Amino acid sequence: MAKRPELMTTTLWDFPSQQYGDESQGDKNYRGATPAYIQWNLLQRYTKAGELVVDPMCGSGTTLDVARDLGRRGLGFDLQPTRPDIALCDARTLPLEDGSADFVFVDPPYSTHLEYSEDPRCVGKLDARDGSYYEAMGMVIAEIDRILKPGRHMALYVSDSFQKGKPFCPIGFDLFSIMCAHFEPVDIVCVTRRNRTLLRNHWHTSAVEGNYFLRGFNYLFIMRKPGIGERLVPRPVIHTKTETTERERPKTAILPSGSANIDRNRRKRISRKMREEQKTQGEGREWSNRPVEPKRGNRPGRPDPRGGKFGRPGKHDGGGRRKP
Ligand SMILES: C[S@@+](CC[C@H](N)C(=O)[O-])C[C@H]1O[C@@H](n2cnc3c(N)ncnc32)[C@H](O)[C@@H]1O
Repeated sequence: MAKRPELMTTTLWDFPSQQYGDESQGDKNYRGATPAYIQWNLLQRYTKAGELVVDPMCGSGTTLDVARDLGRRGLGFDLQPTRPDIALCDARTLPLEDGSADFVFVDPPYSTHLEYSEDPRCVGKLDARDGSYYEAMGMVIAEIDRILKPGRHMALYVSDSFQKGKPFCPIGFDLFSIMCAHFEPVDIVCVTRRNRTLLRNHWHTSAVEGNYFLRGFNYLFIMRKPGIGERLVPRPVIHTKTETTERERPKTAILPSGSANIDRNRRKRISRKMREEQKTQGEGREWSNRPVEPKRGNRPGRPDPRGGKFGRPGKHDGGGRRKP
């Protein structure tokens, strides 16, 4: 049995190598192999001995080797199987029953970062900028949802994508929001990238000269499929300023809950008090339609403290305390 790695306790992970111990997990020379410590940590936390672990994009088979090491049953699929225990299959159509897996791990191509195979179905041929990558990954995620048992976990390991001269692609956040339509977020871990090419000095020089950043970390999203009878907690709906109409915007301060029975005058007093408090806290724009005029005496170039963006209210707008 391989020497045991440590169980990680924070959301910042950094590993010295792709493999742990003196046995091998996957192939450290496979481009894009997952650090085996990741699957080791996940399987320790979210599975028990004998349970079924599935990797639908198995690459060099790291997940299968870790599963075997920990006494879990592993099933691996890939369009380009690298060894006999990985089955040739598109991750969008897995030959598994609904709700059969106890845990799913997936480390997909990060859009067109690496060339994995000539297979036109390879997700690594699809560009995140034209949407085709997200469409395919949406199907992979839906398939993971289908095969996963209710109440069990999945994890997706991915990096954002930046290519010089092209728009930045926040693949991590985008895949996270797709996953949120199926699963509830359990945690987000940041894993340091120890890519050998990052050590080459010319990459760093180019990043400074070109004013961009090299990818320093991968996301590890840990998600849970709701159990039977459980519902997904709704994700926040973001309203942009232009979408908010006059009618939607509250004209008066919102009273504290449980205040329905208090008399009218008392409501008025509370309303007035809340308006005054909001003014002094620099939150006036939250509820008022009136544009905020800069106060006389503000120093030129200083943002209006009531705008709330910079400067603490009261510090530059402290009435009698400030010298003229
Ligand atoms: C980052 S690698 C996985 C690395 C793997 N976890 C390991 O440790 O070796 C991504 C894999 O996804 C596979 N792949 C890409 N598109 C696929 C698809 N539609 N169905 C199944 N596998 C796919 C690629 O062939 C590649 O092996």
